[in-house]
Amino acid sequence: MKCIIGIESTAHTFGVGIVGLDGKILANIKDSYTTKEGGMIPLEVRAHHAKVGEMVFEKALKEAGILEEDLECIAFSNAPGLAPCLLEGMSFAKKKAVYLGIPIIAVNHCVAHLVIGETCGAKSPVMLYASGANTQIVAFVGGKFRIFGETLDLGVGNFIDSLGRSMGLGFPAGVQIQKLALEFEKLETKNKVLEPRLLELPYSVKGMDVSFSGIQTKVRGLIEAGVDNREIAYALQETVFAMLVEVAERALAHTGKNELLIGGGVGCNSRLQEMCRVMCEERGARFFCPPNDLLTDNGAMIGYLGLKMFQAGLATRDLENVDIKPRERTDEVEVLWQKNFFG
Ligand code: FE2
Repeated sequence: MKCIIGIESTAHTFGVGIVGLDGKILANIKDSYTTKEGGMIPLEVRAHHAKVGEMVFEKALKEAGILEEDLECIAFSNAPGLAPCLLEGMSFAKKKAVYLGIPIIAVNHCVAHLVIGETCGAKSPVMLYASGANTQIVAFVGGKFRIFGETLDLGVGNFIDSLGRSMGLGFPAGVQIQKLALEFEKLETKNKVLEPRLLELPYSVKGMDVSFSGIQTKVRGLIEAGVDNREIAYALQETVFAMLVEVAERALAHTGKNELLIGGGVGCNSRLQEMCRVMCEERGARFFCPPNDLLTDNGAMIGYLGLKMFQAGLATRDLENVDIKPRERTDEVEVLWQKNFFG
């Protein structure tokens, strides 16, 4: 059976996805760099990707039940991301392309997060992309993936991780923060409080953009002052997610679209999902939330968009002219694969 393979390596995850020519995801294997202390050191992450690459690749082939010879084309994420990690993914993809004698396709990671929404039914969504490095509201309008709002400073995931570090939680910290926030809510309910106490944090929405540095400063002060981590985690989630949902709602109103898609690792947070769902219900929009393994960085979404590009004749054997673009913005991507895609 002929397949497309997708390689993801923009940040802490090395992922390999295998997609059939009919668009069916046959395998989605990943291995992510984690650490108990500190954040991501790009060269260490690159070394991680180099170490696990072949193993993840083999596992994916096995899971899909295919042989190397079945691979028709190799897609890899060339943008945006940490340069050392992107380079590792590209060198892996090029080596395989040469060895297997197949063409290659460079895929924009952010666009792949949006396009994979199609597999859960989204047709023309506004995407709230909330991950470590990225926080954007994106939609396809007028032939381009346009950014309607974004963070003015930190990516929401990196911001939450930085506060998690100050609280002594490991990396990534999102799951721990969610657990602490839930604990606080339960505690307050036990104390028969109708609405859990909400510490006041600087709610910072500027036009369609958001900013987290003010909250970061305030929360660091609260941690130093010895405020209960659970109470901080609760206020952090409520405030930050309300900001994201507010700009997502405004983008829906502005574009006239009636579908919201969530993407990115922070999208795995069930409180954020709940707030999105409530907002969509209130305005009669549909909410699409891919499963966690497609929300977080993964090779399947790279393979899935790679397939569309491959079918549009965009694969190349000219490896010399394929390069990484660590800073490419979503709205710089030329959408050559499908004219009316998500129009
Ligand atoms: Fe991502």
